[in-house]
Amino acid sequence: MRRLLVTGGAGFIGSNFVRMVLSEHTDCFIVNLDKLTYAGNLENLTGFENNPNHKFIKGDICNGALIEKIIDENKIDAIINFAAESHVDRSITEPKVFIETNVIGTLTLLEAARDKKLERFVQISTDEVYGALGPKGKFTEQTPPSPNSPYSASKAAADHLVKAFGHTWGVKYNICRSSNNYGPYQFPEKLIPLMINNALNNKELPIYGDGLYVRDWLYVYDNCTAVWKVLTEAPPGEIYNIGGCNEKANLEVVKLILERLEKPNALIKHVTDRPGHDRRYAIDASKITSQLNWKPSVSFEEGIKKTIDWYLQNQKWLANVVSGDYQKYYESMYANR
Ligand code: NAD
Ligand code: DAU
Repeated sequence: MRRLLVTGGAGFIGSNFVRMVLSEHTDCFIVNLDKLTYAGNLENLTGFENNPNHKFIKGDICNGALIEKIIDENKIDAIINFAAESHVDRSITEPKVFIETNVIGTLTLLEAARDKKLERFVQISTDEVYGALGPKGKFTEQTPPSPNSPYSASKAAADHLVKAFGHTWGVKYNICRSSNNYGPYQFPEKLIPLMINNALNNKELPIYGDGLYVRDWLYVYDNCTAVWKVLTEAPPGEIYNIGGCNEKANLEVVKLILERLEKPNALIKHVTDRPGHDRRYAIDASKITSQLNWKPSVSFEEGIKKTIDWYLQNQKWLANVVSGDYQKYYESMYANR
């Protein structure tokens, strides 16, 4: 039986990953360590909260003693590190916690992986470490890191630490750099769920700048299958780009959401741009496709329909998430924009 420590498993991608592993790979035991920040939500564990192969622990990845105790008590053989501060806009207003969790937290996990001689350390990174693209070209694993936001700088710093621990102490690692994920359980600060929530409530849809910024959208389930393949099949020391081959401008995505929800385009409002906004991301995923035989299974048209349907069917989840602190966040981010 594989015995995994998954961090950030109460967040968006982490909870989708834990759900997928527990349902498709029954020979796995997962300790799910999550600090339950604003983005962590026990309601994201729906469907597997009582699974005997899953144990949830509330805690911080910066707590080295806790990590060592979890590894020893649960005979952990690999860590998959999803835990992070993940929102670019928040990193522009409050960068410090991004360094604490994304850099110090990853360092703490690496020290434990090294000292406990774990079989594998999988770092969940991002395509944003590469910086921004012009109208042409794609990020490959050889593209030099050139991060532009405090968020992506903290993720790039973590990637460098992971590689350094591999080089210096032989920690067996992999790094996954995926493009923008979307799907069930995504916190409505990110583009797609924020726009769905606003449209459902007939609120304005705030498009930054001209709305022609391009992202490469990846359905979250497909990212989870890619991470699983990396964990179970990749040689150590390899980095993999994971992308959906679905480049779309933000305006196009938002108009599609409005169309599906039968709401008017008049809800769209162009607002002040994000400082330092990266113009375009696009992933060359040929390495993971050729080496690990992975490819995305969900087209954007299918994925966005599944996603909108999920939010329509889970309005209680959405209502709980947007109550309380979310209102303050929304006010501070968008009121005078
Ligand atoms: P998220 O914000 O939804 O979830 C992050 C989770 O980490 C939350 O449950 C939070 O409580 C937890 N967490 C935060 N700080 C912690 C700490 N100090 N100790 C323990 N737990 C902590 O993020 P997400 O969108 O699911 O992203 C997961 C990972 O994937 C991140 O590393 C992110 O950088 C990366 N990533 C995300 C995307 C995307 O489109 N969402 C794309 C590429 C890479
Ligand atoms: O590329 C991978 C990254 O994708 C991940 O590493 C990050 O964790 C994740 O948050 C995401 O970063 P982005 O900044 O691309 O995602 P976000 O959903 O915040 O924004 C997507 C695009 O939509 C971006 O061009 C900014 C724009 N946008 C976003 C919001 C929230 C708007 O126009 N209006 C908005 O209100």
